[in-house]
Amino acid sequence: MSIPEIDLVVYPDECDAFGHLNQASFLSLFERARWELLRGGPGMDVFTRDGSWPALRKTVIDYRAAAFPGDVLRFQQLLTHVGRTSFTMRQTARRLRDDALIAAAEFVFVCIDRDGRPTPVPTDFREYMNTADSVQTDVQRITVNGVNLAVEVRGEGPAVLFIHGYPLDRTIWRHQIDTLEGFRRIAPDLRGMGQSDAPDLGYSMSMYAADLLALLDVFGIEEVVLCGLSMGGYVALEFVRQHRSRVRGLVLMDTRPDADTSEVRRTRDGAAATARDRGASAIADAMLPKMLAATTLAAQPELTERVRALMARTPVSGIVGALSAMRDRESSEALLETLSGVPTLVIAGEADTLTPPSQARSMAEAIPGAQLAIIPGAAHLPPLEQPQATTVRLQDFLRSLG
Ligand code: MLT
Repeated sequence: MSIPEIDLVVYPDECDAFGHLNQASFLSLFERARWELLRGGPGMDVFTRDGSWPALRKTVIDYRAAAFPGDVLRFQQLLTHVGRTSFTMRQTARRLRDDALIAAAEFVFVCIDRDGRPTPVPTDFREYMNTADSVQTDVQRITVNGVNLAVEVRGEGPAVLFIHGYPLDRTIWRHQIDTLEGFRRIAPDLRGMGQSDAPDLGYSMSMYAADLLALLDVFGIEEVVLCGLSMGGYVALEFVRQHRSRVRGLVLMDTRPDADTSEVRRTRDGAAATARDRGASAIADAMLPKMLAATTLAAQPELTERVRALMARTPVSGIVGALSAMRDRESSEALLETLSGVPTLVIAGEADTLTPPSQARSMAEAIPGAQLAIIPGAAHLPPLEQPQATTVRLQDFLRSLG
């Protein structure tokens, strides 16, 4: 279940002499959005029913843009933490007309009884906010740019955003998400893949990057280390091109900076036709031998089956969309030499034939100060084929950023 969004109109009496929504009025709009959420869900008396009251303990608001009378603001609300007696709610307000982020806020509540003693967070409220699931699995459902994305979030510390390749999903980062302690690990399913929505249209590198930017805004993250594998690397490079000030560091894994040749473009169109005619499993069968090293295929049958199944369950619209986004992507070759000041690690599986180590080496040489790591015993998917070695390399790099 995803949590409904709440639309509220800005009234003139909430604005200052310049016609801007007043900063104090933001607080009441955020509060109104919370009440509306309860009204449409477990009821406005969900707390009093349990003899409990959510006392506001802390508020942090990031005002991002002005809003004006008549603007309709769309509020998204999610619980980012639930303890026994306290919870943290993150709320964002975006203008419906142009999807501009107007403000993002975080509210920490402690539930207390009439005598001011802490009481448990009411179960009806927890369940409605879907935290039973999200706390257990760390998966949240967040709507950005009109599309609902599944996002796994784990840990505290400097943020690292993991971007999977094609036609895969966030689960390729399982080991890194489980073990990279000391960092806030964020792994979304890109639109069209995994458990995220898969619209028929609207796929481009720019759109994927815009989705990621919106996610960072929802989580209130200013700076992030991007870690992109293959197509995820194309998205990471596009993100750097457009939003460089948000990038603290870059990991480019089994990826390439150049655009598709006309021959590769034709192959993409052929693959899209195959997906439409014969479904995702035809794509999975064709790609599997190229994704994994011969040693992985021979020695890790369970992993091999997992990767095949993962590709085979990708929605056809997501496959076709990703193929067109890759086909039409810009070259990032000229961008590489401008990346001084963006600490970068380039990683490649030793046996990768799709994006071979020689290509990783040239990319690392083109980026000022970049480090290179070649992972033995892996082809195109080092995080799955050699999870420990990949995580250790990532950890060293992330720690070196301070
Ligand atoms: C991927 O793994 O994301 C794809 O192989 C990238 C590509 O086809 O260019």
